[in-house]
Amino acid sequence: MSKKINSKEVEVKGSEELDKIVSLCKRRGFVFPSSEIYKGFSAVYDFGPYGMELANNIKNAWLKAMVQWRDDVVGLDSAIFMSPKVWEASGHVKGFSDPLTECKKCHSRLRLDSLLEEQGIFADEKMTEDEINKIFSENKDKIKCPNCGAQDFSEGKNFNLLVKSNLGNFTGDMDKESVYLRGETCQGIYVNYKNVLDSTRVKIPFGIAQIGKAFRNEITARQFIFRTREFEQMEMQYFVKPEDAKKYYQEWKDLRWNFYLDLGIKEENLRWHQHENLVFYAKEAYDIEYNFPFGFKELEGLHNRGDYDLTQHSKHSGQDLSYLDPSDNKRFIPYIIETSAGVGRTFLAVLSDAYCEEKLEGDDSRVVLKLSPKLAPIKVAVFPLLKNKPELVAKAKEVFDILKKEWRCEFDDNGNIGKRYRRQDEIGTPYCVTVDFDSLEKGDVTLRDRDTMKQERVSIGDLVSFLKDKIC
Ligand code: GAP
Repeated sequence: MSKKINSKEVEVKGSEELDKIVSLCKRRGFVFPSSEIYKGFSAVYDFGPYGMELANNIKNAWLKAMVQWRDDVVGLDSAIFMSPKVWEASGHVKGFSDPLTECKKCHSRLRLDSLLEEQGIFADEKMTEDEINKIFSENKDKIKCPNCGAQDFSEGKNFNLLVKSNLGNFTGDMDKESVYLRGETCQGIYVNYKNVLDSTRVKIPFGIAQIGKAFRNEITARQFIFRTREFEQMEMQYFVKPEDAKKYYQEWKDLRWNFYLDLGIKEENLRWHQHENLVFYAKEAYDIEYNFPFGFKELEGLHNRGDYDLTQHSKHSGQDLSYLDPSDNKRFIPYIIETSAGVGRTFLAVLSDAYCEEKLEGDDSRVVLKLSPKLAPIKVAVFPLLKNKPELVAKAKEVFDILKKEWRCEFDDNGNIGKRYRRQDEIGTPYCVTVDFDSLEKGDVTLRDRDTMKQERVSIGDLVSFLKDKIC
């Protein structure tokens, strides 16, 4: 698959593009493999100094759109650990699994539905063991182990993805009183639905939103931070009257699509995917897919979960989770519209969309991340023209001190100005400010725009208000 990275510029192809993004992430402090000094820890990643800023900017944009700018959604921050009964009620202990097969030659453990899918054979994780094994045995001759090429596999088995812990379990036996790290953040919302209802003034329709870590024992975790075993979710559950569910589902579909456009993602790299084979809890399900370097894949899931979750938790906890409608004094179990996005996947989508290689005049070229200013890790970089002129350095520090009160800024006096621009282009800094000898006399600076590379003079006194219009 080939993807044009920028209309006027160099075309970089699928896996080559992913390699370039992975390399930039490591080189420039966006993403590091976990525990790298110990040769890494599979399917877990750390966000470095710029990655942490970008991830936080994504989360802040989500919180603004989903909570701050609405009067019908409240926030929550529930614990990672919950009563194991939550995961029995939710259906995860029994039904949260992926089909696994083992290559008998190299002993790689592989996701059976992915192996089939790679051959264009439809299969998914919602199929029963029997269903998927039937398709598997019909197509065995087409499937090779991606690691050693052998064609000798064990029978498919459903492998539960919940991650177990020994928290509070002193028996020494993890299977005895199993406790789980949460497999999705929304369960924390369902078990607090009544608390929120009783302690705030929300009335149906209303939503509860939260961002937090989730853990899954993913069988094959490839494609960088796309599928990891520890990841962060941004989930919102919207509680509605059953008869209104369709209407609100459509409303949330529109809102979530526009959220990604507001992050600066190009619309041609987004598409909808409707689920035909629904998970046990869903009445309707669509994914927003992004055109990652490895093709269109799920970025966010939107589900009409019906009354499944609150009914299950009512049954298993013995608590009445129905809602008393003050308008007609009737009780009902609310339907839930869920929007569920991953921070890591949004991060990778945003980086893939922004990554750009440009040929410049002469033999020059640059790598530039054309990130929306609201997501850029550093908003403004400040340079003294020369490092060895104390008066320039002092003035540049003065400007830096003014700007850093407003935004995350960086001071850089290392190397020539051209190199400093390239460094900032590579991390997506939208504006660079250079303090030169004219600045000392006239009180103005050169402001350089990342995308156009145009420069203009702006007075130091006007700099904050000038930039405020450009950086949200
Ligand atoms: N509560 C519904 C739920 O968890 P999901 O489709 O399993 O649904 C929702 O996950 C979102 O969470 C996905 O669209 C994706 O962005 C993110 N996600 C899920 N598993 C992930 C993983 N292993 N690594 C990174 N992100 C993941």
